Amino acid sequence: MSQLPFKTWEYEEQTKAKHEAFNDYIDKWIKIVGAYNKLNYIDGFGGIGAYKDRDGKIYYGSPVLVAKTIQSVTSKLQRAIKILIIDKNENNIENIKKIFEYEQINIEPIFINSDFDRTINHILDNIQSIAPTFIFIDPFGFKIKMSTIERIMQIEKSEVFLNFMFTRINQFLSDKKKENTFDDLFGNYDWKKCKDLKGEEREKGLIECYRNQLKKFSKYVYYFKLEFPSKRKTYYYLFHLTNHYLGCAIMKSSFAKFHYGRVEYRGMRDNQLGLFESKDVRINELMDYLKNKYRGYQKSFQQIIEEQIDETEYLESHFRDAIKKMENNNLSVSRIPPKTKTGRARTGIQNQDVIIFK
Ligand SMILES: C[S@@+](CC[C@H](N)C(=O)[O-])C[C@H]1O[C@@H](n2cnc3c(N)ncnc32)[C@H](O)[C@@H]1O
Repeated sequence: MSQLPFKTWEYEEQTKAKHEAFNDYIDKWIKIVGAYNKLNYIDGFGGIGAYKDRDGKIYYGSPVLVAKTIQSVTSKLQRAIKILIIDKNENNIENIKKIFEYEQINIEPIFINSDFDRTINHILDNIQSIAPTFIFIDPFGFKIKMSTIERIMQIEKSEVFLNFMFTRINQFLSDKKKENTFDDLFGNYDWKKCKDLKGEEREKGLIECYRNQLKKFSKYVYYFKLEFPSKRKTYYYLFHLTNHYLGCAIMKSSFAKFHYGRVEYRGMRDNQLGLFESKDVRINELMDYLKNKYRGYQKSFQQIIEEQIDETEYLESHFRDAIKKMENNNLSVSRIPPKTKTGRARTGIQNQDVIIFK
């Protein structure tokens, strides 16, 4: 194989899992949100731009994936989207530029060779009105400030996809020199309570502590757990922040699409489906959950999704299936409108349909 004109990093399985979900979602975000808005994509930690797996196959990193997706979408649809790529390492920026040339990507991003936090705050200080913006925050470590994420989420229709580097956070939690970094990361001091916890309890404590803070300014916050490819151990979490229930629902289904309907990556065990993980079992569980949660209530389907999508592991399609299965037993459905355009009685479940739980 001829020498490539750019450098690569080694591709690991969990990076592939991250890229697959991310790219699937970005494609949909551009098509849906971009139909009525100009968009911005900001890659806060751009990376080297390309990876090579053990067989020598090349995979691209987030900035290149997004640019290629934009190129493909805009070849068919009218969309206006700007890309900003930030990385502190100048060599990485130069490498990404070489990949754009090699792949003949006809999109011209703005490259910024600087610190993410400084750059983003500078932009927010100086620009009054910002188009809906998707920001990918994917550092190696955990130098991310809660206050900066809060500022980003104040941009109307903005979204954040963020790598919460659990392994490193857990490793350094008791390091006195890192206390200020952790205060900035969590935006309060509650994380300190987790220092005395162990194992799973500590992991859950840290994740919930972080999510509670994010929920103060982002309506929907969902996290995806990614394990190491060859250990039964958490590597990191990907957090998705959006103020629209549909964003949350779509990101979950983008992730689940590559993981047998699951919203987590389980390393080597990822392609083994446990006895209690089949779709039928999952739907039955959800039916029990809905029965208990909504007994005696009336809610539109959309209200149920809005209330549950970032609180449970179930996908929007699971809710639809469960409600259809429960119809006439534990609940009835008032369909609005009751008939299709051709005058036939509707049988599906749509957002405005009212679910009347017995
Ligand atoms: C995990 S890599 C990003 C991978 C990339 N998102 C992808 O999908 O291929 C993290 C990158 O962040 C860069 N970086 C580290 N600290 C930074 C900072 N404070 N501001 C901006 N970039 C930084 C590193 O140089 C590195 O290229």
